Amino acid sequence: LKDQGLQDIQAADNQQKLNDIRVKLLGKKGPITEVLRGLKDLSNEERPQVGSFANKIKGDLSSAIDDQLKVLDQKTLQRRLAHETIDVTLPGRPAPVGTPHILNQTIDDLEELFIGLGYEVIDGPEVETDHYNFEMMNIPRNHPARDMQDTFYITHDLLMRTHTSPNQARSLEKHDFSKGPLKMISPGRVYRRDNDDATHSHQFNQLEGLVIDKHVTMADLKGTLEVVARHVFGEEREIRLRPSYFPFTEPSIEVDISCFACGGKGCRVCKYTGWIEVLGAGMVHPNVLSRAGVDPQVYGGFAFGLGPDRFAMLKYGVNDIREFYQNDLRFLHQFQREV
Ligand code: PHE
Repeated sequence: LKDQGLQDIQAADNQQKLNDIRVKLLGKKGPITEVLRGLKDLSNEERPQVGSFANKIKGDLSSAIDDQLKVLDQKTLQRRLAHETIDVTLPGRPAPVGTPHILNQTIDDLEELFIGLGYEVIDGPEVETDHYNFEMMNIPRNHPARDMQDTFYITHDLLMRTHTSPNQARSLEKHDFSKGPLKMISPGRVYRRDNDDATHSHQFNQLEGLVIDKHVTMADLKGTLEVVARHVFGEEREIRLRPSYFPFTEPSIEVDISCFACGGKGCRVCKYTGWIEVLGAGMVHPNVLSRAGVDPQVYGGFAFGLGPDRFAMLKYGVNDIREFYQNDLRFLHQFQREV
């Protein structure tokens, strides 16, 4: 019985069969149980001999079953591991990566240029106070220049900033002139109550620039803007300054770059003049300086405000500003950047 049992156990090639064998050999109706149950009918001399013999066989068989179970479990594990092998030499599947929006690429590029020129990049709130957006920029209440910028008011004193110029006042207030000149740019979204069309959006971007030191001149402004224009639009660009008006600069200028959309001849894009307006600028008004606690007798400088949307439209031939904000993938994918 024992030899046959051991043979069967070793031949069992899965857990189910092994369990069947266990039940057959050691179960309630199995031969060993039967022998043990019969002990009571044996004589006093035979009983201990038969009993210990039967128990020994029972023990041997049951440990053989345990051993075989371990072997089978091990085999199952091996099989599973072999099946689940990962081939680490397979080339990975490329993950789809996004790319910065073309407006952000334009702004990033300008930031890099200005950082290289020693400017710092500062941020300011898009929900701005009337105080900073207007008062500090020399536009008091009832000043007609408020009509230049149709404003989204939130409360009487709180509004969506109409330009990034309030960051001029914010940085003037903070700057410690004993540590050197103030040179900053401040890019960000601005808001105006405009009806959206191909050239107007109620929300667009500006990039403010401000340089304040002891001997800053309009020549510095022109030189700086020329660097910007040529960096963005190509080395052969010329710029031209036209007198203009802003309450926070005196004198104020508007800046055109030589037209390149139509080979310099002057087309519709350039209003048939050969020039196209790209930004507003000027020498910072003494009132702006003194309101921010800077002495206009000692310090002065220039400020400019340019439109990254406008820049990107000209540079990439986008003829509808709304394209930037509709997130049509066919549009966005044209500006996929190599990563
Ligand atoms: N803030 C002006 C605008 O939004 C632009 C500007 C900035 C003009 C700085 C002069 C100096 O139109």
